[in-house]
Amino acid sequence: MLTLTVNGMKKEVDVDPGTPLLWVLRDNLGITSVKYTCGIAECGMCTVLIGGEARRSCAIAAGDVQGSAITTIEGLADDHPVKVAWIEQQVPQCGYCQPGIMLQTVDFLSRVPSPSEAQIGEAMDNVICRCGSHPRMKKAIAQAAVLTASQGG
Ligand code: FES
Ligand code: FES
Repeated sequence: MLTLTVNGMKKEVDVDPGTPLLWVLRDNLGITSVKYTCGIAECGMCTVLIGGEARRSCAIAAGDVQGSAITTIEGLADDHPVKVAWIEQQVPQCGYCQPGIMLQTVDFLSRVPSPSEAQIGEAMDNVICRCGSHPRMKKAIAQAAVLTASQGG
């Protein structure tokens, strides 16, 4: 039995500790916003925050993150600057990639609060959106940075 802390709540799951966190979140806890695509830590669809750091849940054993704070998109407040900017910029098309990329953005802005256009571009280089929403994502990231600064960081 593993005990995981997901979006501030303790959850007990009866799984092998080596099970990828992705499958525990989706299959055991029903959090299907965490998406599976490549399964080899390449695409970013399965990204969650572990202790505030963006990590690819397909490549993390659930047993290794007991005791860490795990955050999925449901754990971000509705008025979080990233959510607000994403809505204002109407970023998603099909939506499949968006939760993971939004969570990666939260981590990115925590490390680079006033990013340049080039830094935003680099940060988005390692995530895949099959719908081509990158131009709107980049605008939303810039807006989220401004919103975060206006809220005092
Ligand atoms: S499914 Fe995890 S990075 Fe692609
Ligand atoms: S919005 Fe469709 S994959 Fe990104």
